[in-house]
Amino acid sequence: MSFALDGVGLAHPNGQRALQGVSLAAGAGERLAVVGPSGAGKTTLLRVLGAGMRPGAGQVRLLDADPWRLGAPALRRLRARIGTVHQGPPIAPRLRVVTAVLAGRLGQWSTARALGSLLYPADIEGAREVLARLALDDRLFDRCDRLSGGQLQRVGIARALYQRPALLLADEPVSALDPTLADAAVGQLVAQSESTGATLVASLHAVDLALRWFPRIVGLRDGRVAFDRRADQVTEDMLLALYASEGGGLPTQGGPLAFSSPSAALAPQRPFLSSDCR
Ligand SMILES: Nc1ncnc2c1ncn2[C@@H]1O[C@H](COP(=O)(O)OP(=O)(O)OP(=O)(O)O)[C@@H](O)[C@H]1O
Ligand SMILES: [Mg+2]
Repeated sequence: MSFALDGVGLAHPNGQRALQGVSLAAGAGERLAVVGPSGAGKTTLLRVLGAGMRPGAGQVRLLDADPWRLGAPALRRLRARIGTVHQGPPIAPRLRVVTAVLAGRLGQWSTARALGSLLYPADIEGAREVLARLALDDRLFDRCDRLSGGQLQRVGIARALYQRPALLLADEPVSALDPTLADAAVGQLVAQSESTGATLVASLHAVDLALRWFPRIVGLRDGRVAFDRRADQVTEDMLLALYASEGGGLPTQGGPLAFSSPSAALAPQRPFLSSDCR
């Protein structure tokens, strides 16, 4: 089991409820897209999966550990096995791209190696290789504050790929990219999961991207799991209901929405089994 949430509830410090009764589990190597309207709780869910936020209710297991029962060193080691592409990449502006990418492994390196890498980047070829996957290897030695928003977002993805985590979380990782680059970048996250066996959980704004790349789709609304289905069982009606509060159609990149099973809405709801995706 890569992660398991059982009855998770979380309210932010101002009392705003972000998650309620969320039960969700995935086996190693599974790929899930989380979709839902703004404010549904996607970022909060990913922060719980990254051991960054402690829920007020329910149980959390991440990579076979209960993060909130671990001592500080063990919690640090657990977090080093979880990689997150943040919705807004937290990258210091004056950092060079190569250093920002190598920071992905700081949690795995000795203090001496980590400090040394700040002065002289420890693994320039490794950084170049992941940046090349995102068509950014020509910016290796640029400062991050000289990059566009979309380039910076790809640096955030490269850092998480370089980390080689067992659990790879991506919070709207391609929101600043044009459709072609977005498709390629999501493809790289999926390829990483395939080649390393990492579990991949990505929240995505564009439902066409989610359906194209992910075998399992989790719909989140008002902090609750509205559906958890194989992609080929997700129907247009389910998505329209999920996004009803946004008042328009479905958020897409403009790509075709290929529903493989138009009658799936009529199929009886049953709990999702992780074996469904195998
Ligand atoms: N730091 C915070 N303090 C208080 N409330 C918060 C905080 N962060 C999020 N919330 C609230 O929690 C709920 C879930 O927010 P969250 O950011 O998880 O949604 P989201 O699905 O990621 O939205 P978006 O698509 O806009 O990124 C929302 O009602 C939001 O207003
Ligand atoms: Mg969010």
